[in-house]
Amino acid sequence: MVITIANQKGGVGKTTTSVNLTAAFSLMGHKTLLIDMDPQANSTVSFIDPHELHYSIFDFLESGDVSFDDVVQKTNINSLFVLPSSISLAKLESKLISEIDGHFRLKDKIDSIKHNYDFIIIDTPPTLGMITINSLVAATHLLVPIQASYFALEGTDDLLETYEKVRARSNPDLSILGVVITLYDKRTVIAKDSEAHILKLFKDKVFKTYISRNVRLEESPAYKESIFTFAPNSKGAKEYRQLAEEIVKNA
Ligand SMILES: Nc1ncnc2c1ncn2[C@@H]1O[C@H](COP(=O)(O)OP(=O)(O)O)[C@@H](O)[C@H]1O
Ligand SMILES: [Mg+2]
Repeated sequence: MVITIANQKGGVGKTTTSVNLTAAFSLMGHKTLLIDMDPQANSTVSFIDPHELHYSIFDFLESGDVSFDDVVQKTNINSLFVLPSSISLAKLESKLISEIDGHFRLKDKIDSIKHNYDFIIIDTPPTLGMITINSLVAATHLLVPIQASYFALEGTDDLLETYEKVRARSNPDLSILGVVITLYDKRTVIAKDSEAHILKLFKDKVFKTYISRNVRLEESPAYKESIFTFAPNSKGAKEYRQLAEEIVKNA
């Protein structure tokens, strides 16, 4: 399963979901690869010290001389691997636009290694440009985090249109794994209101598990840990574990 996590709104929990789902799957015993396709590299730094890196995913995607093995990083979780990003990845957008098979670069590059992993999770930047399109073309599934807030659904039309375009031409097998409601605070009217809107639009595509607003989730990246080692008994750990189980159960 190759799961791309996308929503062109920033701050909706793409990276938090990428990092903690990857950790949850690997702690369940699955061999898991996190591919960071965001030049901001937030999910990379949740596991890895960027100063220790010789190469990033940009080198892997752009250079014929840099192999997957040169770039992939081990982490302190045994079955969890990371293809790290760096700010140089921002250059990829303009390079790919002028190439005839620009949509397929990531897919072509990971085709030969993807069978080595039970789950591959791809974190994406807050845009619908070539990097996100590459991530959708390389995926089997799309997972959309939506923040329970005013304007929660703003932009989802464009995301779904991009999804349909990718399905129509480049990747007919792509399907929607689900929508996960994030940063949920059940005490607020806003959260309840936006939850109703999200359920109305996405119906049974909305995961039963919601991710609540939880300060431990915000703190854990600073310690280079997922929520499961940083605060194993927190609500955030419980909910991301439950989300991973829901995905595995429905797979
Ligand atoms: N459930 C949550 N509870 C509290 N803070 C969260 C939660 N999910 C994300 N955050 C915080 O919100 C900010 C944006 O989340 P992030 O995952 O980086 O979003 P995105 O990748 O979509 O931009 C980050 O500071 C993150 O730590
Ligand atoms: Mg992010």
